[in-house]
Amino acid sequence: MQQAVKIAPSILAADFTRLGQQLADAQAAGADLIHVDVMDGRFVPNLSFGALVVEAAHRSTSVPLDVHLMILEPDHLLKDFADAGASRISVHIEACPHLHRTLQAIHSLGCQVGVALNPHTPASALSEVMHLLDVIIVMSVNPGFGGQRFLPETLPKTRQLRQMIAASGRAIDLEIDGGVNVETAAVCVEAGVNVLIAGSAVFNAKFSVAQGMDMLRHAISR
Ligand code: DX5
Ligand code: ZN
Repeated sequence: MQQAVKIAPSILAADFTRLGQQLADAQAAGADLIHVDVMDGRFVPNLSFGALVVEAAHRSTSVPLDVHLMILEPDHLLKDFADAGASRISVHIEACPHLHRTLQAIHSLGCQVGVALNPHTPASALSEVMHLLDVIIVMSVNPGFGGQRFLPETLPKTRQLRQMIAASGRAIDLEIDGGVNVETAAVCVEAGVNVLIAGSAVFNAKFSVAQGMDMLRHAISR
């Protein structure tokens, strides 16, 4: 049976002059998670923000924070993000030479444990760590920027990951990140995704946060 699909607005697209209000709007509109994109200017070409913004977001909302670390060798920063209020922390498999140890460290900090996969990384890369995971993020764009075009070639991998999750017997959330909007949300759900991460489809000057979330829900209800 298809489980309920969660929506995780990504604050990368939010108006930072009024982040607290944008988070309150997302919470009122029923956001299940708040996705927080941390970029280091090395693993990805862009810089975003660090634990200070996670801590500010944590004070502004009671919605769990889904922290996505796009940083090389993140081990020395994990505690900062846990202390700042992250509920779940995902690292990139491509950025972690000792992934098994990194995942154990996230767990020992009391956070849910996640791994993100770039578009070129196969599902099989996770076969030896499935027992450690609570979250898998399929990148449906090359990470680093909001507002990019969805890459449909990531959908077969998403289907494979859903099968691996079923075989594991674990309640792992399968998230998809990048280019998720009213046109692409339904195929993601059809491919087994149960968490839609959405930046510009939710935080957008053209409509309210509540309207953005409603449009996404409508897109997957048909
Ligand atoms: C991209 C980030 C995404 C980004 C998505 O590197 O990981 O979370 O915020 O933005 P949209 O939904 O606009 O593609
Ligand atoms: Zn992200």
